Amino acid sequence: MKHIAIFASGSGSNAENIVRYFSNKITAKVTLILSNKREAYVLKRAEALNVKSVFFERDDLYRTGRVLDILKENHIDFIVLAGFLWLVPDDILEAYRGRIVNIHPALLPSYGGKGMYGDRVHRSVIRNRDSESGITIHHVNEYYDQGDIIFQARCRVDPEDTPESLAAKVHALEYEHYPRIIEELISGMADKENSESFEKA
Ligand code: GAR
Repeated sequence: MKHIAIFASGSGSNAENIVRYFSNKITAKVTLILSNKREAYVLKRAEALNVKSVFFERDDLYRTGRVLDILKENHIDFIVLAGFLWLVPDDILEAYRGRIVNIHPALLPSYGGKGMYGDRVHRSVIRNRDSESGITIHHVNEYYDQGDIIFQARCRVDPEDTPESLAAKVHALEYEHYPRIIEELISGMADKENSESFEKA
């Protein structure tokens, strides 16, 4: 069984949805939730869901290597960012190459980059009178929102949409697709490991 860690900075509704999705799977489970915000609601969700959680500070991520140590101590195989707003440092990118994904609440490469998150994205989409928005699931690299795109799904933006109503449409797409895509990636990882060990034998 693969162990998933989720990084989140805010409410954590995606984190909860992913925890629930994997709770009855045998291939993988969410065994750790990490947050850089002590007051983040995601930490309360973690407690309610009975998932171990960790709060960390900037130095733990970028200077001391404490976050990487925690991931290793907890035997984490796969990292999911779900509303996490800091860059992932090189030590973690190297240790988890190809095994870190993020979700962005718009159709990248539009509306990406530093400072583009949550409702700010939806406000910009509405201000520009775009007729569609959606979600992007992508690999994570050293830049904001620039890793290779894995999956996108679209929704209409209606003239009467507000940032809140658009956020609701985008969240619905996130809940529908993010856990499934994570599962596919993890299954692909397991298949690759099996064929490699078969080749070695
Ligand atoms: C989600 O919509 C996610 O796509 C977005 O933050 C929201 C978190 O909601 N992420 C970003 O904007 C990253 N740039 P949640 O805490 O309820 O899951």
